[in-house]
Amino acid sequence: MSAPVIKVTISSVLPFSPISSFTWRISRALSFNLAKAPIRKMTTNVPEKQAVIYYQQNGGPDVLKYTFDYPVPTITANEILVKNKYAGVNYIETYFRKGIYPTTFPFIPGREAAGEVVAIGKDVANYNIGDKVAYIGTKNFAQFTTLDSKKTTIINLGKDASDEQLKLYAASLIQGLTALTFIDEAYKVKEDDFILVTAAAGGVGLILDQLIGKIRGGHVIAVASSDEKLAKAKENGAEFLLNSSKLSYDEIADEILKITHGKGVQATFDSVGKDTFEMDLKVVARKGTIVSFGNASGTVEPLLINRLSPKNVKVLRPQLYGYISEADEFKYYSKSLFDLIDSGKLKIDIYKVYPLKEYKEATIEMEARKTTGKIVLEIPQ
Ligand SMILES: NC(=O)c1ccc[n+]([C@@H]2O[C@H](COP(=O)([O-])OP(=O)(O)OC[C@H]3O[C@@H](n4cnc5c(N)ncnc54)[C@H](OP(=O)(O)O)[C@@H]3O)[C@@H](O)[C@H]2O)c1
Repeated sequence: MSAPVIKVTISSVLPFSPISSFTWRISRALSFNLAKAPIRKMTTNVPEKQAVIYYQQNGGPDVLKYTFDYPVPTITANEILVKNKYAGVNYIETYFRKGIYPTTFPFIPGREAAGEVVAIGKDVANYNIGDKVAYIGTKNFAQFTTLDSKKTTIINLGKDASDEQLKLYAASLIQGLTALTFIDEAYKVKEDDFILVTAAAGGVGLILDQLIGKIRGGHVIAVASSDEKLAKAKENGAEFLLNSSKLSYDEIADEILKITHGKGVQATFDSVGKDTFEMDLKVVARKGTIVSFGNASGTVEPLLINRLSPKNVKVLRPQLYGYISEADEFKYYSKSLFDLIDSGKLKIDIYKVYPLKEYKEATIEMEARKTTGKIVLEIPQ
């Protein structure tokens, strides 16, 4: 099928264009005539414009904008264009928005999604139009996302994957792979280990509870900020429950030492960061491991390494990508994850599905610590 020529009506774009004129000029140049683009195949229903969430500056949730008027990106010879159906919401988006991690503008958030391949570059060999894919990528709080077909963090689900599977896979890739890789590679959790999990009813937290408490046979000491959240952590495999709204982190540390008869925990999986790092140092056992992997309360202060000597402690500040950047690593862990999900051994707890345009409301709720499990965005088709 030959690619259609897509004309952009300048007058309909310019006055309301949400993007900087520089980016707009590039997008316009790219999307002016798709017939000249190196496309092998394309469905006929790819529009010129799409709905996206974007922002032009760092700040609070108010910087988030929703528009229908954003150019659909074009693909290069090695790329595919995916029409997204569901996207997963992760806490990391808040770090980019606040400027904790660097960004360029306009910025379209989103790290994981699932959808259908609707265009293929001329050198792409491993995808067909209509294939369903789940992927870790960027810019997917949008109807359309381009992906390098050689990218290693895409799973081709074939043509038959159901909408329900797309939702579940979009909901689980980042948080599931984070939990799965960290309990093997950051600290290899063993049966009967005592493990501290903070934000234990969050997206990553509920998966850690299950993997450690139900599958590995460890003892999860869960910290969360309400009794409802702790009940959820318990349902998912946590054994000891500590409420951070009722106890200070110092008091929580004392409780953990009591639970472990003064020995402390073999590892901490701590995503709260700044507020809880001193607690981690206090409760980690001799020869134990602190896995500090998030900044929900702010970035951990610089650490004097001599503080690790009294108990011969190891500290890691891992990121997921460091464990899945090679193709065989991603393949191994994503297969393990989907096997666990498909067999029903691992439950992905979807808190709520918001329409894309309500991402702002979703993140306000998440940042106010009101959510448990996973938030998913449904993308308009
Ligand atoms: N290193 C990596 O590669 C990697 C990968 C994935 C996720 N992460 C990190 O893992 C964490 C969990 O991610 P998620 O997407 O599953 O989010 P989440 O746990 O669902 O949400 C964050 C939770 O952090 C807790 N929290 C503690 N102090 C907070 C504060 N001052 N402000 C806001 N929240 C606070 C809240 O639980 P309570 O109210 O119960 O305390 C809140 O529900 C995030 O920090 C994320 O950045 C890191």
